[in-house]
Amino acid sequence: MSSQCNKKLDMTGRIDKLKTLRDFEKCALEESLDYYAKLYFSAGACSTSTPKHNEDAFSRYKIRPRVLRDVSKTNIKCAVLDCPVSCPVGISPTAVHCLAHSEAELATVRGCCGEKCIFVLSSTASCSIEEIATEVSNLKEACHTLWMQTYIHKDRSVTWDIIKKAESFGFSAIVVTVDSTSTGLWMNVMPEEFFEMVSPKLPNLPSLPRLISDTSLTFEDLKWVVKNSKLPVIAKGILSGEDAKAAVECGVSAIIVSNHGGRLIERVVPTLEVLEEVVDAVSGKVEVYLDGGIRSGSDVFIALALGAKSTFIGRPAIWGLSLDGENGVRKVLQILKEELLMTMQLAGAETVENIKRSMVVKI
Ligand SMILES: Cc1cc2nc3c(=O)[nH]c(=O)nc-3n(C[C@H](O)[C@H](O)[C@H](O)COP(=O)(O)O)c2cc1C
Repeated sequence: MSSQCNKKLDMTGRIDKLKTLRDFEKCALEESLDYYAKLYFSAGACSTSTPKHNEDAFSRYKIRPRVLRDVSKTNIKCAVLDCPVSCPVGISPTAVHCLAHSEAELATVRGCCGEKCIFVLSSTASCSIEEIATEVSNLKEACHTLWMQTYIHKDRSVTWDIIKKAESFGFSAIVVTVDSTSTGLWMNVMPEEFFEMVSPKLPNLPSLPRLISDTSLTFEDLKWVVKNSKLPVIAKGILSGEDAKAAVECGVSAIIVSNHGGRLIERVVPTLEVLEEVVDAVSGKVEVYLDGGIRSGSDVFIALALGAKSTFIGRPAIWGLSLDGENGVRKVLQILKEELLMTMQLAGAETVENIKRSMVVKI
C-alpha cells in the first residue's frame, strides 16, 4: 500500500496556517501530490474544468440572513439515516487513497470517524474492507458511520461479495453507484503510463474498472441490490426527479444527487442545479444528499436550504489526506464545521432544520 507518488512533507505547524479548503487545495496540488496523483484526483471528463461547474453552481445562490433570532445555542449536529452525526458533511467514496498518502484509506477513515462524520469506502479503495473494519474496531470510540460503496458489476457475484462483506464487517449502509455504465471520460485525460503504474499497487481491488462497465444496467438491477442487501441501500448518481422516483420505487432508503465529481460526462448538469427537482420528486419518502463542489460551510448551508439532508465531499478529503494523513482529513472537516456553524449563526438558523429555502436566493 505504500506510495511513491506522495511527496513526504513536514507539515509541523503548517497545517494550522491553512484556514480554508482553498488553502488545502493549493497546498496539496502545489506541494504534496506528485504529477500523476494530481492529474488523477483533479481529472474531470475530457478536461479538468468539468468538476469546476459543480463549484460554480454554488456562486449562483446567495444567502439571505435573518436577523435578531436567538442563535446562542446553534448546533450543527443532525441524523443521517437515523444515525447521529456531528454535522451534515460526510466523505464520498473516492478510489485509491494510496496515491495521496502511504496510510491511504486507513488514515482517512480514522480522521472521518474521529470527527463523527460518515465515511463511504470506495470499492476501488487501496485498502480492503477487512483492513478498514479492523482499523475501525481498534479506534477508542465506536464508529457507526461506515458505508460501503459498490458498482453493479457485470459479474454480479462481485457486487454480491461486496454487499455480504459490508454486512458482516459492521458497515451500516450500501451506496450503489448507478451512474457508471462505463468508467467515464476522465480516463481520456490520463496518460497511458498512469494505468501501468497504478495497477500493480492495488492487489485488493474488488472493483477493477474493466469489471464495472455494464451498459445493460436498468432499475431492475437496482431492485436486485435492494433485495439482496440486509442494509439500507442508497442510490448515488441520480440527477433527475424522474430517476429519483424510479429509485424510490426500487426500495432505496436514500439518494445522493451526484455527477461523480464531473468525471464521467463533459457538460454534465451541476448537482446543485437539480437538487430541488430531486427533493420535490421524492416528496419526503427518502432522504436526499448532495455531493460535487462543496468547498465551504456556506456551500453546505445552501445545499441544505435547497432540501439536502446532508452533503458529502470527495476531493477536499484527499487534499487533507495528502498533506497530513488523518490529521489533515480532520482539519478539512473541522473547517467545514466551523464555517457552517458561523454561517448558521449569522444567517439566523439555530439548527440544521431551521435552514429554510427562503434563506437562499438564486441570482
Ligand atoms: C479521484 C476520484 C475517485 C472517485 N472514485 C469514486 C468511486 O470509487 N466510487 C464512486 O461512487 N465515486 C467516486 N468518485 C466520485 C465521488 O464519490 C464524488 O461523487 C465526487 O468526488 C464529489 O465531488 P467533489 O470531488 O467535488 O467533492 C470519485 C471522485 C474522484 C475525484
